[in-house]
Amino acid sequence: MKNIAIFASGSGSNAERIYDYFQGDSEVNISMILCNNPEAGVIARAERLNIPLVMFDRAALKSGEVVRILQENDTDWVILAGFLWLIPKNMVEAFPNKIVNIHPALLPKFGGKGMYGHFVHEAVVANKETESGITIHFVNEHYDEGNIIFQASYPVLPTDSPEDVAKKGQVLEHEYFPKVIEELIK
Ligand code: GRF
Repeated sequence: MKNIAIFASGSGSNAERIYDYFQGDSEVNISMILCNNPEAGVIARAERLNIPLVMFDRAALKSGEVVRILQENDTDWVILAGFLWLIPKNMVEAFPNKIVNIHPALLPKFGGKGMYGHFVHEAVVANKETESGITIHFVNEHYDEGNIIFQASYPVLPTDSPEDVAKKGQVLEHEYFPKVIEELIK
């Protein structure tokens, strides 16, 4: 059995999608959701789905307290599904090549500090890109710079708003993120 801990700061639609995908899989357990944002939609999802939820602050992440919680719960993989803080060195070192992030653009384009959520899609439209996509990658100590595992793209039309682009990306995220995780961990 592989234990997956999911980190999320926002709505948590990817977290729920991943949970649903592995329901009934005897080899994979979504063991907990970790969240830094008391306003996040993922909190209600975790409660509804009965997934243990851990709330933490920046100090706990930096001090290694979060790593201790992950280790105490026999975590094998860490999945960042819309998690907005930088992962500190202590966590990267505790889980080498076992932390995976999804980014809503075709890295290395539109990545880095401050490039998240609607900022990404606004930049894609402002730049008149003709395509965007999703990137699933390993996590290191720098925002959006770890080795790329998987990318998928979609066309951006001249008439697309940032919201249109976001919707296209979310369809791909929900389709591919669970599958890519499955291939990695099995
Ligand atoms: C996704 O677009 C993901 O790529 C980005 O944050 C968003 C999270 O959405 N990093 P949700 O919270 O899973 O709905």
